[in-house]
Formats: sequence, structure tokens, C-alpha cells
Amino acid sequence: MTDARRAALTERLRAIGQQHVLNWADELDAAGLERLLSQLERLELERLPRLIESVTSTDTHAAPTSVEPPALIECSSDDDPRTREARQAGEELLSRGAVATFLVAGGQGTRLGYDGPKGRFPVGPLTNRSLFAYHAHRVLATSRRYGTPAPLYVMTSEANHESTVAAFDEAQHFGLEPSQVHFLIQGMLPAVDREGRMLLAAKDSLALSPDGHGGCFEAMRRSGAFDDMRARGVEHVFYFQVDNPLAQVLDPCFLGHHALGGADMSTKVVSKTEPGEKVGVLGVVDGRTAVIEYSDLPADLAEARDDQGRLRFRAGNIAIHLLRLDFIARLLEGELRLPVHRANKKVPYVDSSGRRVEPTEPNAIKLEMFVFDALPLAERSITQEVRREDEFAPVKNAEGVDSPATASEALSDQAKRWMTAAGLALPRGPAEVGPLFALDQDEFLRNLTKSDFGPVFDRA
Ligand code: UD1
Repeated sequence: MTDARRAALTERLRAIGQQHVLNWADELDAAGLERLLSQLERLELERLPRLIESVTSTDTHAAPTSVEPPALIECSSDDDPRTREARQAGEELLSRGAVATFLVAGGQGTRLGYDGPKGRFPVGPLTNRSLFAYHAHRVLATSRRYGTPAPLYVMTSEANHESTVAAFDEAQHFGLEPSQVHFLIQGMLPAVDREGRMLLAAKDSLALSPDGHGGCFEAMRRSGAFDDMRARGVEHVFYFQVDNPLAQVLDPCFLGHHALGGADMSTKVVSKTEPGEKVGVLGVVDGRTAVIEYSDLPADLAEARDDQGRLRFRAGNIAIHLLRLDFIARLLEGELRLPVHRANKKVPYVDSSGRRVEPTEPNAIKLEMFVFDALPLAERSITQEVRREDEFAPVKNAEGVDSPATASEALSDQAKRWMTAAGLALPRGPAEVGPLFALDQDEFLRNLTKSDFGPVFDRA
């Protein structure tokens, strides 16, 4: 059996010029050989030459010839007829069960220095509610509000899959029906040397790393999640990141603008606080909406101001997207393709004499795909500007800016704004509103009873 698998892989590897990764196979014990063969079988080997070629052939992306700020849609109060119409359209989609939620949680959380899936991190100002609990409770509260369960797909990576599933199990899926929650593991891609040859981390294993959040489409196909969405009658996918406890999951107004605008893929943005803030910005590049990563935005554009003194490129990407399922289908059918990004990294490897080398300089190229690279492939795209204090408080770093402390503070501040609107006295310390109590200020005011006075407003 193993011989047949090995022979088949040798053939496939030879066809793509990567047979060297089996050079040490004869030396391996049964467990080692099994590890290597199954790693190779999980890769889509035939797809690799195209990916590798695209990152080794050139070091830089072609510079865009023109970049303009995007047109921004605002979601104001329901007094504005456009907002009212959008909200109703979004609510209609939610009532029909036509929207799925897709949470990307495959990252390693390296900057946070937390040993576990980032979603487990406690950020509730008083209850220590975790990031996962915020997201799941918003899905649950929305499902209750519109009388239809919205499915939640959670994308993990090999490194954190089991601990993520365990976190949901331990919390009884945070009140969601188990059949409402689906886990899918993102793919891995091999690190290659400058000649595009796959590197071995050891004689029995490839140097692999997660394929980036852009791997979500392939993961949807491979895991059956895409077919599951189709079977459920899903028309749009609400995509969001695990690190933002203020993400207004399934916001009907955003959904409505996206659907009424006939958009393939839409994005929420907030105004950047300063030119150097580490968020990608939305721009119209050569006529197509795109995200320009903070590391790729030239300083003159990052600092440019409009005639009112505001940053010209201030539409900061908060990584909340809506994608039409038919658009995802076109990406999966190969009609549209995401580009691959390269990152030059130091990757320990086994050299041609079988010695393990710990490089002191970048020696390898890691391959990664970004979800927002789908944006320029969209025929139509909506960009909606929202208020940072209501929708964006990411947990990226252990301390300082974008940390658990700033996220908790933002959650508490939001609770206090709602309490103020209700005429309640504010506590000296933090306050907290659980998503099952209220998803927004209007709901908070409606749900408040005489016995609710804070500082924690929660429901089961
Ligand atoms: C990201 C965006 C940036 C945006 C910012 C908003 C990129 C390259 N940039 O920056 O435009 O302004 O968020 O907060 O994404 N993830 C996976 N699998 C992976 C890699 C990441 O699931 O292989 C998930 C992470 O779990 C996380 C999210 O993607 O939920 C973002 O990843 P991260 O690397 O933290 O992105 P940022 O550089 O902070």
C-alpha cells in the first residue's frame, strides 16, 4: 500500500520537477514515511508550478498606473430612505436564511503571544467573554431576531483546528445548534528556495505554512462547505476576522447595500487614525476596487490630504466583506484566480547532503493568498464607511495599540454610550452589554427593563 502511494507520488513529483523531496525516503521509519507521504498527498501538487512560477519569476508587483480613493456609502439612521431601504433588503435576506457567516481564525496570533486559538482570548470588560463567544452570540442573536438560523463556518488551520473545535464543544457551541456550526481547515503551502524547489524542514517533513486567508475559497470547496451553502440556499457570505470583537456580524444595512447594488464583493471601512496606521486601504486601482496593504502604500499616498485636510486614502480595511456565492463559484471554477504573494523568510531546511541548516538570512519564499485580492476580480463592489467606535477594535498585539486592553475599553465605551442614551447612571468602572441582550443601541433601549441597571447587561 505504502509502496503504491510512494510510487504514485514519485510520478506526480517528477512531473512537476520536485522529486528531490523524496531523496531521504529510504532512510525513514514507517511513521516518518507516513508523515511525508500524507503531507504530499494533501497538497495539490499539480497546482504548485503555477503558484511557484508566479512568485519566483518576479520580485515586485507591477506598479498601478492610477489609484483613486473609492466612493463610500454611509449607513446613517433610518430617517434616510436609502438606509431604510437597504436595511429592509438585508432583513429580508436574513429572514430567508440566504446569508452564511464565515469566520477566519486560522492565524497563529504570533503578535499577541497567546498560546492557543486567538478566538479563546477573553476580552469582555467584566465577564471575560471570549472573542469566539462575541461572534457566536451575534450569530445566535441575529438568528433569533430574524427567526432563521444563520450557519457559522469557522476556518481553522492545522495548528489550531483541534483546540478551536474543543473551545466550541466546551462552551456547548455558545448556544448555537451544533448543526449550525461547521469547521474547515485551511490548506498549507510549501516554502520554496529561490529556484522554486520545495524545502524539507526535516527528512520526513516538508517546510509548510498556512496558505493565508485567501485559502478560504479552496477550503470551502475541499471541505464541502461551499456545497453545503448552496444546498441551504445561501446567496451571500458574510466574511469576518476572529480578532475584532466589535464586528457587527450580519449587519442588515451592509447586506442590503451590497445586494441592492448588485455587488460581487463588498467591504466595510473606517477612517484611518493616522497615515501610519497598520490597516490596508481601499483604493480604485486602474478602475477596479482593491485593498492596498499598509506595507505597499507609498508614503506620499499614505500622507496625501484632501481639500478638507482629511487623509485622501483613509478608507481603512476592517476585513469585513460580503461575497455573493455565485462570485465564489467563479473563483472555485478557476474562471477567476487569486494571485499569490511572496514573503522572504528564514526557513530552516535539510540541504542536499542531508544536513539541517539554520539560516541567518532569508533563504526561502513563503507563499500566501489574501482574501481581498478577490476584490479587483469583482464586477461590482460596494465600500461602506462605518464608525470605528461601533465596529472596529482589533486584538493584534499583547500591549499598547490594538491590544486586549484597547478592545475591552472599546466594548465598555460602547456599552456606556448605550446606557447614556437610556438615561442610566454610568458605573465608575467598565460596563458591558452582551450581544444576546442587544446587538445595537435601538435594541438595547427596547430590551431594557426596570431591573436592568448595569454594569453588565446580559441574557442567555
Ligand atoms: C489584516 C489585513 C489588513 C486589515 C487588518 C484589519 C492582511 C494581509 N491584512 O491585517 O488589510 O486592515 O487585518 O484588522 O490580512 N488568518 C487565517 N489564516 C491565515 C492568515 C490569517 O485565517 O493563514 C486570519 C487570522 O486568524 C485573522 C485574520 O486572518 O483573523 C487576519 O490576519 P492577520 O495576519 O492578523 O492580518 P493583519 O496583518 O493584522
